[in-house]
Amino acid sequence: MFIEKCHNFHDFRRLAKAKLPSPIFNYIDGAADDEITYRRNTRSFDDCDLVPNVLAGVEEVDTSVTVMGQRLEVPFYCSPTALQRLFHHEGERAVAAASEKYGTMFGVSSLGTVSLREVRKHKNPQAYQFYFHKDRGLNRAMMEDAKDAGVNIMMLTVDSITGGNRERDLRTGFSIPFKLNLNGISQFLMKPMWGLNYLTHEKFKLPQLDNHLDMGNAVVSISQYLTEMLDPALNWQDVEEMVKYWDGEFCLKGIMSVDDAKKAVDIGCTGIVISNHGGRQLDGSRSPFDQLQEIINAVGDKIDILMDSGVQRGTHVLKALSLGAKAVGIGRYYLFPLAAAGQNGVERALELMRAEIIRDMRLMGCKSVSELSPENLRHRVK
Ligand SMILES: Cc1cc2nc3c(=O)[nH]c(=O)nc-3n(C[C@H](O)[C@H](O)[C@H](O)COP(=O)(O)O)c2cc1C
Repeated sequence: MFIEKCHNFHDFRRLAKAKLPSPIFNYIDGAADDEITYRRNTRSFDDCDLVPNVLAGVEEVDTSVTVMGQRLEVPFYCSPTALQRLFHHEGERAVAAASEKYGTMFGVSSLGTVSLREVRKHKNPQAYQFYFHKDRGLNRAMMEDAKDAGVNIMMLTVDSITGGNRERDLRTGFSIPFKLNLNGISQFLMKPMWGLNYLTHEKFKLPQLDNHLDMGNAVVSISQYLTEMLDPALNWQDVEEMVKYWDGEFCLKGIMSVDDAKKAVDIGCTGIVISNHGGRQLDGSRSPFDQLQEIINAVGDKIDILMDSGVQRGTHVLKALSLGAKAVGIGRYYLFPLAAAGQNGVERALELMRAEIIRDMRLMGCKSVSELSPENLRHRVK
């Protein structure tokens, strides 16, 4: 199959599976425990239906939104994800260039494999995803780096205070650098093109951390990094100090309760992302789409509310916007096409999502995102 023949998330996923060594595919595709939350995330969109209006004169459709002071040409953005050069040698360079082309935001992970400074050369809005380390000096140094690089939004991930139990990674021995068991090695030998690309491109690095931590030589799984390096004592006061120190657009990623959303407002955050990390952390937790209405009702007029997890279709985005989300994050939806075809793949995915949204807004009788409202939705009675 070729990338041009991919028409949706499932096609991209199939092509990525064909190209990647299975430990890497399973790192992207996998989630925590029994992966119940992972499956629910997408299914939750099926429990409500769109109610279109017609004859609304929809030849011109405006898909732009403004989130935390940033104008996005489309109401979705690339959520921060770790280790992108492992998935395709172009890695973050591909995602930064593709998101710039579509005028949307790129979330750069602190576990990114290209430096913040390099991806900052692109002119689209960028959020820097931050993990709070035990070492407070390191946190300050990383924030200074982000300020110097001219990042627009600080995005602190708060749902990863310890690593989720990702059993697929335990089985394959997925770690950085690789420390594979015999089975793992054989999986890599079965995908020689990936290996050739990996070996013939620049050495794998984690530039956001390499200046501060000796990650390169240690063999750590991502779960081990989250568990051993991040500070489980992190509390609201610490974050309030961080918000003051940053003194700009500040967003918490991984908020799920109304109480926490209210606290985020109280400490001066300008945004929250309702997210369960794509089901990769607490299995059995509610899906962000199911939880969106409660949070919008409580604080929707006080803070910008974004959501991610499980988004695979333009109609998923329109449902979340109808409830009042300002924009929607995508994760695996752009990672599988990245793995399948680098920048071309990500561009194809963003183009398909944009085209779906324009077509579906026309079919909904909406000329702009602001015309979407809860009136466009009906929840099914169970
Ligand atoms: C392979 C992978 C790596 C990720 N790495 C990070 C990360 O470094 N930091 C972070 O805050 N979220 C990370 N996430 C979570 C995403 O930002 C996002 O919340 C999630 O992918 C949304 O779910 P979806 O994949 O169903 O769209 C990662 C997700 C995946 C699939």
